[in-house]
Amino acid sequence: MVSGNIFLVGPMGAGKSTVGRQLAKALGRDFYDSDKEIEKRTGVSISWIFEMEGEEGFRIREQKVIDDLTKLKDIVLATGGGAVLSDDNRRALRSRGNVVYLSASAEQLFRRTSKDKTRPLLQTDDPKQQIVELLDERDPLYKNVADIELRTGDQSIQHAVAEVIKQLENVGQ
Ligand code: S3P
Repeated sequence: MVSGNIFLVGPMGAGKSTVGRQLAKALGRDFYDSDKEIEKRTGVSISWIFEMEGEEGFRIREQKVIDDLTKLKDIVLATGGGAVLSDDNRRALRSRGNVVYLSASAEQLFRRTSKDKTRPLLQTDDPKQQIVELLDERDPLYKNVADIELRTGDQSIQHAVAEVIKQLENVGQ
């Protein structure tokens, strides 16, 4: 039995939304995605928010959404890759549920995000290098906040979901 909230953290392209949605389905929970919630509340895309308000403005919106969503009960929440940068977000995630770090190699993350134009932080001349730098900075933060870490490789979504459930059963609450 897995009880309480489940929060997914990890870098862009780790599969937080895909795994999160299937995990919620398998457990009969409601699924939320913090980026989608921001887009729903503002009526515009994440890229547009970065363009208009910069990363700083986006992070303020992200913090509010994470504070609101982590107060819900028995949900699965996929957070944006930079959510762990904020102390307040890390505190909310740690204290209000079980945190799962979906990790992957820089190479895999690059492969999974290379065709995607919706992630403003990766629209640089050298997205691969950017992924490496973001991972260097954030990997300790993901580890700090997480109860369990699952390295996503070439396994199926179903396999990842089953593995998360198995590990969460061991963590208990
Ligand atoms: C970001 C990750 C994105 C989104 C925004 C910033 C980041 O979410 O929140 O573009 O700082 O890593 P995903 O991890 O869902 O792509």
